[in-house]
Amino acid sequence: MARVIGGIATTHVPSIGKAIAEKKQRDPYWRPFFRGFDYVHYWLAREKPDLAVVFYNDHGLNFFLDKMPTFAVGAANQYRNEDEGWGIPASRAITGDPPLSWHLINALVADEFDITMCQEMLIDHAVTIPMALMWPGENWQSIRIVPVAVNTVQHPLPSLSRCLKLGRSIGRAIDSYEQNLRVLIVGTGGLSHQLDGKRAGFINKEFDKFCMDKIVNEPEALTRYSIHDFIKEAGAQGVEFLNWMAMRGALTGQVAEAHRNYHIPISNTAAATVVLENRAEAKRRAA
Ligand code: DHB
Ligand code: FE
Repeated sequence: MARVIGGIATTHVPSIGKAIAEKKQRDPYWRPFFRGFDYVHYWLAREKPDLAVVFYNDHGLNFFLDKMPTFAVGAANQYRNEDEGWGIPASRAITGDPPLSWHLINALVADEFDITMCQEMLIDHAVTIPMALMWPGENWQSIRIVPVAVNTVQHPLPSLSRCLKLGRSIGRAIDSYEQNLRVLIVGTGGLSHQLDGKRAGFINKEFDKFCMDKIVNEPEALTRYSIHDFIKEAGAQGVEFLNWMAMRGALTGQVAEAHRNYHIPISNTAAATVVLENRAEAKRRAA
C-alpha cells in the first residue's frame, strides 16, 4: 500500500533559483536560508520518498486570469518548466505518474471536489524551486510528482478550510492506493509577503510564527480566518499558505514537527521551511 511519509513546506521565491545557479548558497545573504535545507536533505535521504504530491500555485503561466481553475490536478507523463523569466536557468522536465494521478482524481471527484484534470500541464517556479532546494543538482531523476495547483491568484480563492479538506481527500486516496509507494507531500509558497500595491514588502513575523505553530497539530484553528482576514495578516501573496493547508490535510497520521527554519527576508518574502513527520508511518516502519 502507498503511505504518506510526511510533508515539507517551503517558500518558492524565484531568486532562489538564480542564487543556486550562481552557487551563492554560502553568501551571507543566502546562508541562513540554505542552511535550513541541511536537515531536509538528511531527512529525505533517510525517508527515501518515491513520489511527491506537490501543492502549489500557478503564477499566470499554465493558467491565466481568463481561465483559472480553483483546483487542478496534473495527470501528465511529464511536467515541463516554462517559467516566465526571473533569470532562472531552464531545468529538466519532471516525471509524472499518471496512474496515481487518475487514482487521486477519481477519489477527489467521488468526494465531490470539482477539480480540473490536466493531461498536459506546464509548471513554474512554484514547483521547480522547491524541487531544486530539496534535491540539489537536479538530482530528482528518481522522484516522480503529481502537481496539484491551488488558485491563490484570481479571487474568489478557496477557503483555508476547503484546502485542508482537499488535502485530506488526497491523503485518504493515497492510503487506499495499492502500489507500494512512499509518498511525500509538498506545499509551496508563503509565508507572509506582498509584492504589489501600497503594502509591497509587507511581512508579519508574529503571524507567520502563529501559522507555523498551528499547522502542526491545530490546522483547524487557522480555518477561522477568512481569505480577506488572512491577506490582511499575511499580505496579498501570503495567501499562498493555502498550499501549506492542503499539504497538512494530506498527512494522515500523528503529525510532529521535525524541523523548522524561518528567515526574513528573501527578496520580498518571509522564507520558511518546515518538515512535518507522519509519525504513525514512522511507527509502522519500525514495526
Ligand atoms: C517573490 C515571491 C513569490 O512567491 C513569487 O511567486 C515571486 C516573487 C519574491 O519575494 O520576490
Ligand atoms: Fe509565489
